[in-house]
Amino acid sequence: MKQICVVGVGYVGLVTGACFADLGNRVIALDVDAKRIENLNKGIMPIYEPGLEELVRRNVKAGRLSFTTSYADALKGAEFAFIAVGTPEGVDGAADLQYVEVAARSLAKHMTAPLIVINKSTVPIGTGDWVADIVKSAQPKPIDFAVVSCPEFLREGSAIADFMAPHRNVIGSLDKDAANKVAQLHLPLRAPIVITDLRTAEMIKYASNAFLAAKISFINELADVCEAYGADVKEVAAGMGYDARIGRHFLDAGLGWGGSCFPKDVQALAFMAKQKGLNPRILNDVVDVNYDRRRDVPTQVEKLLGGNLKGKTVGMLGLAFKENTDDMRDAPSVDISNALIAAGAKVRAYDPVAREVAAPMMPAVEIVSDVYEMAKGCDALVVVTPWNEFKQLDLEKVKSLLKTPVIYDGRNIYDPARMSEMGFTYRAIGRPSNNGRA
Ligand code: UGA
Repeated sequence: MKQICVVGVGYVGLVTGACFADLGNRVIALDVDAKRIENLNKGIMPIYEPGLEELVRRNVKAGRLSFTTSYADALKGAEFAFIAVGTPEGVDGAADLQYVEVAARSLAKHMTAPLIVINKSTVPIGTGDWVADIVKSAQPKPIDFAVVSCPEFLREGSAIADFMAPHRNVIGSLDKDAANKVAQLHLPLRAPIVITDLRTAEMIKYASNAFLAAKISFINELADVCEAYGADVKEVAAGMGYDARIGRHFLDAGLGWGGSCFPKDVQALAFMAKQKGLNPRILNDVVDVNYDRRRDVPTQVEKLLGGNLKGKTVGMLGLAFKENTDDMRDAPSVDISNALIAAGAKVRAYDPVAREVAAPMMPAVEIVSDVYEMAKGCDALVVVTPWNEFKQLDLEKVKSLLKTPVIYDGRNIYDPARMSEMGFTYRAIGRPSNNGRA
């Protein structure tokens, strides 16, 4: 059993803290947001993440996990302190490090014994060295510490499974002893451990996210070529994916990537390259290709309807940036609804969990609590988020409720041939049988 302090109870901090507690460690998770801590102490989660509430409850009950707003309390007896605070996109695409700085200063001020400060947040290359300088200068008296980079690779919606069964753990530090101690913490996960220097570890995180984003933009560009030539991008992805050098993951064509990670991380990596006088052409195109997909939705719906969108009602199936989360950060649904409204349409929407988070972000959209109620009287539907429950919809019922049976399937969740047979004017992305294609 090790004693761990985790700073930040967002997705990364809360999942990391709860999972380390579940592995038998004693974890004190800290946040400066007193309301969040008060809620967590009552068992109310700040985010929707499958399995998290149960995991937190179990470990709190076992006395392995607790929450506080006090650095002094969180650091009492702690050998490790994870920094897991937000690094939002700042000006020019650079990562905004103000929360990391506050966390580092506060740890320095309150530590009373040697400490390994582990950075989990996604931070620009060189941040680990900067954190070390901050800790050193903010300590009231010198106490031994080491800074380690241990980037997270958790996906929202499957964060606990990703933590417990990682592809790898990356540990970066110039202090070998500290790196080994952090490696020990991860041994129960039985995954490969990459031990490297701080800057390389920080880069591995950006490189991984940018590569995955590029893979998605690649398949989205390819989808257009498939469609132009009558090939099916889903089968193309499956056929490519059997090649172990390529892999099937992250080859789902659709409305592109969003969320709190890919958008800011690709921009931040491009920004870092530019700062050194480099021209990150691929990264720039990865971003452009991605956002084109959202921008294109009104035009495609207009084509399917055979006229403009003025006075039409369009229903959006899904709001969250992806399934199994209520996260609305850079969700395609926001840009799509704005564009549809700008083109003269009324927009209605349904999402199984993101309704409350989404409502203030799209006041002009009528968000309803039942998918069939949403379909009633719509001129067209757009599949925005691939929630499982949309795959199992009673499509006959949906058809009978729609004013015109038009579906733009932005996540390729339906079978084009079946949709045609059922009498839908249906368009998928990069697939043949697009009977609505202009
Ligand atoms: C991503 C990475 O997958 C994690 O490894 C990483 O830890 C995390 O960012 C982070 O940096 O914190 P996440 O943003 O939760 O995780 O979601 P993903 O499952 O990666 O999906 C990202 C976006 O790509 C979503 O909008 C999703 O709909 C889209 N996507 C994903 C596609 O359009 N096609 C695909 O084939 C896969």
